[in-house]
Amino acid sequence: MILQLLFQIIFLSWPMISRTQTQALVKPGCPSKCGNVTIPFPFGIREGCYIDDWFAIDCDSSNKPFIKRIQYLEVLEIFLNGTMRVNHPVLSTCSDENDYFTLPHGNLLAESPFVFSQKSNRFTALGCNNIAYMRVSEFSIVGGCLSTCDKKTKTGETGCYGINCCQTKIPSSLKVFNTTISTFNDERNRTSIAGCRYAFLVDQNWFEKNPQNVEKRTHVPVVLDWGILNSSFNLFATHKQKGYNSTSRCQIYANFTSSIANSSSTQFPVVHCNCRKGYEGNPYLLKGCQGKLLTSI
Ligand SMILES: *[C@@H]1O[C@H](CO)[C@@H](O)[C@H](O)[C@H]1NC(C)=O
Ligand SMILES: *[C@@H]1O[C@H](CO)[C@@H](O)[C@H](O)[C@H]1NC(C)=O
Ligand SMILES: *[C@@H]1O[C@H](CO)[C@@H](O)[C@H](O)[C@H]1NC(C)=O
Ligand SMILES: *[C@@H]1O[C@H](CO)[C@@H](O)[C@H](O)[C@H]1NC(C)=O
Ligand SMILES: *[C@@H]1O[C@H](CO)[C@@H](O)[C@H](O)[C@H]1NC(C)=O
Ligand SMILES: *[C@@H]1O[C@H](CO)[C@@H](O)[C@H](O)[C@H]1NC(C)=O
Ligand SMILES: *[C@@H]1O[C@H](CO)[C@@H](O)[C@H](O)[C@H]1NC(C)=O
Ligand SMILES: *[C@@H]1O[C@H](CO)[C@@H](O)[C@H](O)[C@H]1NC(C)=O
Repeated sequence: MILQLLFQIIFLSWPMISRTQTQALVKPGCPSKCGNVTIPFPFGIREGCYIDDWFAIDCDSSNKPFIKRIQYLEVLEIFLNGTMRVNHPVLSTCSDENDYFTLPHGNLLAESPFVFSQKSNRFTALGCNNIAYMRVSEFSIVGGCLSTCDKKTKTGETGCYGINCCQTKIPSSLKVFNTTISTFNDERNRTSIAGCRYAFLVDQNWFEKNPQNVEKRTHVPVVLDWGILNSSFNLFATHKQKGYNSTSRCQIYANFTSSIANSSSTQFPVVHCNCRKGYEGNPYLLKGCQGKLLTSI
């Protein structure tokens, strides 16, 4: 009798538990993956599966997820703690001219609820006689890094201390910039611009593990912080009445700023949600947070 009960518990509850686990990530009837990347709500692939257009994911024929409104950003990983990793382009040149090279990144992020994470990213210059800038307008620079030459030292071999490699922190609320490379000696001395030069924003955790890998890549991982626009959150904020708040907590952050070209920055509030203590799952879904006991059986 007890054995039978145990069997029933194990065999009947297992599929139920896994179902609640997948339900906890996406809205009912919505695909939860694009390729091997999990796409949790408020992001979504089909219409009706995401909270607003910023969170719409294009799952293209190669089965790679892209942010639909920012076509050049491939999504690598989405975390429900309000961060995500995307692929961001690398500027490189192997020219020995001391010209300016610019990689425009577009301004599609400007009005979005995404910002480049100040905590996780570093702006990086690699190579010899390389001066790299983050440019926010023709006349305005928000960051720069200068890497000098030592032909005996390979990139990243001795860490990143200004010889063949330079890194700097980025400003908070950074959303729009172009990457520029130039040289810092005025005379045209071809031999002093040895080899290829690179400039890119990068997820520092990734870079520390892969310092040699950048030279073969067109893109590197970058961390974005995300939140739901207060205006969108209110579209489904009937939660409150539905008891949404019993297992999750949502907070408005009014300091998510949007600084754009002329550095007039607009503050606009976003919402971050967490599961309450003792619960886990997706705090953005109604009843998305489940008791830990249930999911850890
Ligand atoms: C997803 O698949 C790609 C290629 O199939 C692989 O390189 C990558 O590591 C995978 N990512 C994860 C998170 O498993
Ligand atoms: C969010 O979660 C990821 C994965 O667990 C972690 O690497 C990252 O540091 C977290 N970020 C924050 C801001 O908590
Ligand atoms: C970036 O470069 C593009 C193309 O050159 C230009 O149109 C745009 O204004 C630049 N943006 C910034 C922020 O400098
Ligand atoms: C160019 O650079 C090389 C190596 O750094 C140096 O030996 C040479 O004197 C330089 N030439 C001029 C014209 O500055
Ligand atoms: C968020 O939106 C609600 C409803 O539109 C509004 O009453 C509230 O003031 C907004 N919060 C902030 C911090 O702007
Ligand atoms: C949820 O919200 C309702 C109404 O806003 C409040 O009365 C209740 O105490 C909240 N529950 C929790 C667990 O915070
Ligand atoms: C925004 O405000 C919160 C709460 O005051 C603070 O913890 C957080 O660090 C602030 N974020 C930024 C980017 O200033
Ligand atoms: C620059 O500022 C003007 C007025 O201050 C504003 O109308 C315009 O939208 C701003 N442009 C950008 C790209 O921020």
